[in-house]
Amino acid sequence: MQTLAGKKILLGISGGIAAYKCAELTRRLIERGAEVRVVMTKAAEAFITPLTMQAVSGKPVSDSLFDPAAEASMGHIELAKWADLVLLAPATADLIARVSAGMGNDLLSTLVLATDAPVAVSPAMNQQMYRNVATQENLVTLERRGYTIWGPDAGEQACGDVGPGRMLDPMELVHRCEDFFGPKPLEGKRVLLTAGPTREALDPVRYLSNHSSGKMGFAIAQAAVKLGAKVTLVAGPVTLATPAGVQRIDVISAVDMHQTVMSHAASHDIFIGCAAVADYRPESIAEHKIKKTAENDNLVITMVKNPDIVASVGAMTENRPFTVGFAAETQDVEKYARDKLLKKNLDMICANDVSIAGQGFNSNDNALTIYGRDCEQSLPLASKAQLAQSLMLLINNKL
Ligand code: C5P
Repeated sequence: MQTLAGKKILLGISGGIAAYKCAELTRRLIERGAEVRVVMTKAAEAFITPLTMQAVSGKPVSDSLFDPAAEASMGHIELAKWADLVLLAPATADLIARVSAGMGNDLLSTLVLATDAPVAVSPAMNQQMYRNVATQENLVTLERRGYTIWGPDAGEQACGDVGPGRMLDPMELVHRCEDFFGPKPLEGKRVLLTAGPTREALDPVRYLSNHSSGKMGFAIAQAAVKLGAKVTLVAGPVTLATPAGVQRIDVISAVDMHQTVMSHAASHDIFIGCAAVADYRPESIAEHKIKKTAENDNLVITMVKNPDIVASVGAMTENRPFTVGFAAETQDVEKYARDKLLKKNLDMICANDVSIAGQGFNSNDNALTIYGRDCEQSLPLASKAQLAQSLMLLINNKL
């Protein structure tokens, strides 16, 4: 079936052994109706020849910024504008690093800088290179910028190592392209979510807050947009960039966040309370900076309860969105999560055990167990981006 009819795919090949699979990948894409133009790095040509790629794609292969003949037929800016999707496969650690640094020191990296088409990256490298913190940080940077990361697979590698770093199978990449261009499961749905911490002012210069980074909420916002939803993100004070396509409203305190959410909730289909909202705030905010005095060794601050935002949405009687909460626990995770599900009148709650190192607060990875009224599902340790996508698909199935 011509599932990719008329789709223009720019295939960027860098220098890894998996490059030999690109001939097969190109044939399968073309078989489904895609138009494929190939750009190769110089290192890629050590693994597969431009002639092979020209033969299978039926188009001239570009490999240099400074080739007058290639520039005359389709210049690099024209090529960048032509693409509906840029697929970097295999994407070596070096290409990923150059793209993440915004370099344009060869044709392929320049094209990535010059395109406004979505970019999918299919990493392929030795498992140790993949696990290296530099590569991991570069991939996180690319994900945050809205790039899609496809793979890698784990298993036996050409160098004899075993681990993550194998390029996804050509047919799997073809399926990812089909999904990418296919109908979006959350098309037409509006998602409202909270993320990050809140700050509760004590005086004009001081506040009480918590360590929430906002990463999980921002990852959910990004995943929801990729799946076709319109997303409003109510963000507490965080240092994260707004994911492409997300409407962001910045707030500071729990009371601000509550007001903003309640004025938007009825016009959304799904509400996800991902923020670490302060349970209490100082009863009053001192007009001037609170001074240290010689007489007082103790400072007593009276706190009052903040509104529970997710519970307020759960209690709505008209136009109530499908309401999802989070429960970060250190013990009895299921019990506490299920209690909150009922008490806050939620449709679903995502529980995570924050006592386990390397997941949850401030980390790039997480694992969740989802409890609904009549369902339970574990989403094992994965990047917050992957987890966010699985969560949105799960929510969509329950609407
Ligand atoms: O009660 P607890 O804070 O553990 O519940 C966590 C869930 O409740 C999260 O979804 C969080 O966003 C939400 N929450 C809220 N408003 C509050 C406190 C928590 O929306 N004031």
